[in-house]
Amino acid sequence: MIVVTGATGKVGRPLVTALLAAAAEVRGLTRDPAAAGLPAGAEVARFDPGRPETIAAALAGAAKVFLNVAATGGCITELMAAAARAGVRSAVLLSSLTGPESLTQAEQARAIGAAIGRALRVEELPAAAFRQAAAAFR
Ligand SMILES: NC(=O)c1ccc[n+]([C@@H]2O[C@H](COP(=O)([O-])OP(=O)(O)OC[C@H]3O[C@@H](n4cnc5c(N)ncnc54)[C@H](OP(=O)(O)O)[C@@H]3O)[C@@H](O)[C@H]2O)c1
Repeated sequence: MIVVTGATGKVGRPLVTALLAAAAEVRGLTRDPAAAGLPAGAEVARFDPGRPETIAAALAGAAKVFLNVAATGGCITELMAAAARAGVRSAVLLSSLTGPESLTQAEQARAIGAAIGRALRVEELPAAAFRQAAAAFR
């Protein structure tokens, strides 16, 4: 089972579709399963970054996770640790160029970079991080 955070987003939705096309078992996470509209064949589960108690069930039975920082509400290290506890064997992290709006753009980039760095230090869980310099999502 591959768990995809931000499954309703510009990155997550096509990722769910691509994984299903590759015959993977997929669980898409969303704050609102009823409105998710994910493709047939995808499991849908509730994960709300503001409600940490939703993490464990969202990750149960997962072998791999895709963690989009934009969809993890600043709790990416906690998610990595929870994934390790749940027996997840590998993770892919998508970084972001933007963070809390109270910070300058440079501070946002530094804060996100630091958060990704902390998440990668969760030793029990091998992970790769994508830190794009520029990309266009529609
Ligand atoms: N443009 C660039 O050059 C560039 C480069 C590198 C990286 N990036 C990053 O790539 C990421 C792209 O993600 P995306 O385009 O898939 O994002 P998105 O379309 O905004 O989707 C994010 C999903 O996360 C979920 N979510 C959970 N908590 C949220 C919250 N507090 N606020 C907003 N959404 C929340 C939402 O799903 P539910 O509502 O269903 O829960 C939403 O569908 C962004 O972080 C962007 O900064 C961009």
